[in-house]
Amino acid sequence: MFADEIKIVDRALKKYLPKDNSVLSKAMRYSIFAGGKRFRPSLMLLTTKMLRGKIADVLPAACSVEMIHTFTLIHDDLPCMDNSDLRRGKPTCHKKYGEAIALLAGDGLNTLAFKIISDNCPPKRSVEVVSELSAALLEVVEGQVLDLEAGAGSVSQLKKIHLKKTASLIRASVKIAAILANAKRKEINSLSKYGEEMGLAFQIADDILDFASTPEILGKPTGSDSENQKSTYPLFLGVDEAKKLSQVHCKRAAALLKQFGRKAERLRETAYFSVRRLI
Ligand code: IPE
Ligand code: IPE
Ligand code: MG
Ligand code: MG
Ligand code: MG
Repeated sequence: MFADEIKIVDRALKKYLPKDNSVLSKAMRYSIFAGGKRFRPSLMLLTTKMLRGKIADVLPAACSVEMIHTFTLIHDDLPCMDNSDLRRGKPTCHKKYGEAIALLAGDGLNTLAFKIISDNCPPKRSVEVVSELSAALLEVVEGQVLDLEAGAGSVSQLKKIHLKKTASLIRASVKIAAILANAKRKEINSLSKYGEEMGLAFQIADDILDFASTPEILGKPTGSDSENQKSTYPLFLGVDEAKKLSQVHCKRAAALLKQFGRKAERLRETAYFSVRRLI
């Protein structure tokens, strides 16, 4: 789906990650290059292409988003959080390097992400990009707290958790790409909303797959949500209704692209990609 985009992103990530042989650098590279769909940076490149922006302008921010995403995954897997042993088809960062180094590799990726933006984004946009990304990351952290409290007693509370822990970063990815491509305010707003709806679809799909897929396919453990007594849509609604809800969000995401006409074909496909893994 994103073969060309992944090539571009991976080449840039290689350039930005530290190259030395310290254990910290090794752990950072290990988690970044363990695999992963590169959903968020690919989405940013596709948004840029649709808006006729320059790939060189968005690439540093796209790498930063992938680093931040990977940092949240490293921390999400720690024993004090979801306690997962497998990520992207490999032992998790803390399984390979120990908890302290995993924690610090996450800190390293988070910090490096913001340095890359400060040093490489077009100067007149970098402050706005940092502001968007840090605001989204704060939401992810709040969402992770709510998720850990396992406090979702209702579907609306669960939606709030998903908005924060997952949709916020996907929304910010698209928004940042639109800002860097000098999109009009109206376009930025629709694209942000598109990212948010897709983020909701994406996390519902993730929860269903935790329930119904296999570690071999996913590259991460399954059944971990129920083991950790997490509230999920399959638990609240059953798998079939949860699938329908993910489709609703994905259709809403696609509908928000209407103003872009045929130029938005790849973004429309991306919305469907976020739930296609369920079929
Ligand atoms: C996993 O994200 C965490 C969620 C927000 C559901 P991805 O499914 O994008 O994980 P990778 O990057 O492909 O490993
Ligand atoms: C998303 O939730 C985690 C983050 C926002 C980092 P999950 O805990 O369900 O993600 P996976 O299933 O471990 O990838
Ligand atoms: Mg989690
Ligand atoms: Mg997890
Ligand atoms: Mg999950």
